[in-house]
Amino acid sequence: MEGKGKGRPLTVAIDGPAGAGKSTVARSVAQKLGYLYLDTGAMYRAITLKALQQNVPLDDEGALTRLACETVLEWQAPQAGIPGGPKLYMDGVDVSEAIRHPRVTKAVSLVARVPGVRQRLIQLQRRFAEQGGVVVDGRDIGTVVLPHAECKFYLTASLEERARRRQRELAQQGMPAEMEEVKSALAWRDTIDSGREISPLRPAEDAVIIDTTGRSVEEVVEQIYSLCKEKEAL
Ligand code: CDP
Repeated sequence: MEGKGKGRPLTVAIDGPAGAGKSTVARSVAQKLGYLYLDTGAMYRAITLKALQQNVPLDDEGALTRLACETVLEWQAPQAGIPGGPKLYMDGVDVSEAIRHPRVTKAVSLVARVPGVRQRLIQLQRRFAEQGGVVVDGRDIGTVVLPHAECKFYLTASLEERARRRQRELAQQGMPAEMEEVKSALAWRDTIDSGREISPLRPAEDAVIIDTTGRSVEEVVEQIYSLCKEKEAL
């Protein structure tokens, strides 16, 4: 919590495609700044998990919107000394692990393109961020959710590198997968996320674009942290 209380609390938006390193970087930057961290992708994943559990057809926009509106999502800060990020509770149940299942990953972009689902989750995300002192990661944070964020970053990396990282993550979670399979799943998700009509994945005009290919997490964290500290001091 190196930066706590030293400056004006900012709103930091970090966007980018899957596997660009957003969540690891965002969580670490939040910790260094003494800010809260919000993983908006986890929220879309939770609604997707519930839709799969309840066999809601993924093209039924009305049913998906109702589901998003009636679902209670709550975050619990990580306990001191225990590794990992905040825990996400859906209707009182810890779903932090279940939302990472490949079935959810495969379906999430279809749920995330439903306008009613986005409207509901964006409302919750704005509420979470209204006090400032937050790092929020996603696809549309700098463009739509928090267009007035003082610091905006867009993280990218080559498809090969993103697929390598994702493959490593999956193996660590005990879900090994073939490289080609991981790569085409990422490319498919990129296409839907970038091509959808509302809130497509794209950098905000005032975002700092960072290509993380070949760069370590620490380097990227340091770059973002320094830029935020400069802004904090203004
Ligand atoms: O962790 P990973 O990069 O695989 O993705 P995520 O951040 O967990 O997001 C999962 C999916 O949610 C994305 O592929 C998008 O379809 C959707 N999403 C979105 O539409 N808008 C956001 N602000 C965050 C995620």
